[in-house]
Amino acid sequence: MALLPILRYPDPRLHKIAKPVTSFDQRLKTLVADMAETMYEAPGVGLAATQIDVHEQVIVIDVSDTRDQLRVLVNPEIVWASEEKRVYDEGCLSVPGIYDGVERPARVRVKALNADGQMQEFDADGLLAVCVQHEMDHLKGKVFVEYLSPLKRNRIKTRLQKEEREQKKERTAAAVR
Ligand code: NI
Repeated sequence: MALLPILRYPDPRLHKIAKPVTSFDQRLKTLVADMAETMYEAPGVGLAATQIDVHEQVIVIDVSDTRDQLRVLVNPEIVWASEEKRVYDEGCLSVPGIYDGVERPARVRVKALNADGQMQEFDADGLLAVCVQHEMDHLKGKVFVEYLSPLKRNRIKTRLQKEEREQKKERTAAAVR
């Protein structure tokens, strides 16, 4: 298993559209294992393949307190969404340190394959519903900050770009030392 580097907003690769998975082979199982390890290590409650620069429809999620309820969603689809909406303060491993309210359907029914290619269908509410929708947006090239006002989004972009530059400077200084 391996920890994978996570792309940070506003990296343009976060806007690529993921393709459906067609072969359920060892390569997919390794990808899923690496994504799970990366998510747990971060730590985060969800990770989409897009965030590690793999543009295939693969998501890992674990919203449990015990961190032992891994869900693997391959080629996921939302087959039903509630009329009722809810606002939840979302964060993202690709947008570190930023949390803001996003309105989404409160409940969804999800259809997806697992890493073996078996079909699963389940109803999600609460954090799981938020997480599934957030991660599925990543597969469509959408980051949650795109739901915020342009003013907020630009502030976030500027802040993350500044942090990125400072970290690069630190890394260069450390290499010179
Ligand atoms: Ni995210």
